[in-house]
Amino acid sequence: MALTITPLTPAFGAEIAGIDAAKALRDAAFRPIRDAFEEYSVILLRDQGFDDASQIAFSKHFGPLEISISANPAGGTHFARQSNVDMTSGGIIAKDDRRMRYQLGNYLWHTDSSFKPVPALCSLLSAREVPPEGGNTEFASMRAAHAALPAETRRKLEGLVAVHSLAYSRARVDPTVLTPNQRQEVPAVRQTMVRSNPVNGRNAIFIGAHASHVEGWPLAEGRQFIAELMAFATQPRFTYSHRWRPGDIVIWDNRAVLHRATAYDTVKYRRLMQRTTVAGDGPTVADPLVPADQVAEMYASVGVPA
Ligand code: OGA
Ligand code: MN
Repeated sequence: MALTITPLTPAFGAEIAGIDAAKALRDAAFRPIRDAFEEYSVILLRDQGFDDASQIAFSKHFGPLEISISANPAGGTHFARQSNVDMTSGGIIAKDDRRMRYQLGNYLWHTDSSFKPVPALCSLLSAREVPPEGGNTEFASMRAAHAALPAETRRKLEGLVAVHSLAYSRARVDPTVLTPNQRQEVPAVRQTMVRSNPVNGRNAIFIGAHASHVEGWPLAEGRQFIAELMAFATQPRFTYSHRWRPGDIVIWDNRAVLHRATAYDTVKYRRLMQRTTVAGDGPTVADPLVPADQVAEMYASVGVPA
């Protein structure tokens, strides 16, 4: 079968057809997928028959996998499960369950693992069960947005570092959703605010829900700047909303896009999506650690106990 690449929007994203990615792929067969990933940032493959084992095998073509923090664990430590299905009983999880509250964070535009010292390269999300309405995943091209910024804002961004924290981003939704132990496992980290693609050199704004503030700026001023960038970068002209079909897998470049979940009726419908996450190849700044006084100020600002 011939491989075809069809853009999803004028700015970014592409569907690749003519490949059976759940079957063992030789490196030569993977190459066009990797090239398209660098070029388009979001890759859709439809009608794939992934199970957990084949998803892990396919994901490893991109690099070593991250160990995921999962609120609804199943299928081993390589999966983050975005689902309202309890894996033990097979029934639907109650809305106020911690596992469902944790997933509310996904409704904010974010990039996976930007709260880790080495942020993720890409995520692969496969649709196993899809609600008949709602539950789209949306993507925003931080490259297209960067290119469209006023020149003055692009200059202002040069060399800036943002502080990213899972405790911060989750606290915006629900301050009790991380336990003190979980918080300690994810210390705040510094990330550059602009990333260049190593293959084609294109720049992308690197922010998202985990980005709290700009290092060296007053907290409120940095948050205001990040909020303005987020509002600009998530305009419809830079975004794509993916309507899932069972058998889809979407691969996104966490260096170059933000994404978010959208609502569905979690009481009425089942949704089961499995995510694997490929680790990045290094930190984005020389020293990712954040001084304790800055962390304390950030935590206090959102009511997280120090
Ligand atoms: C993710 C994520 C959104 C969704 O898997 O990282 O944010 O729509 N998912 O489930
Ligand atoms: Mn995510």
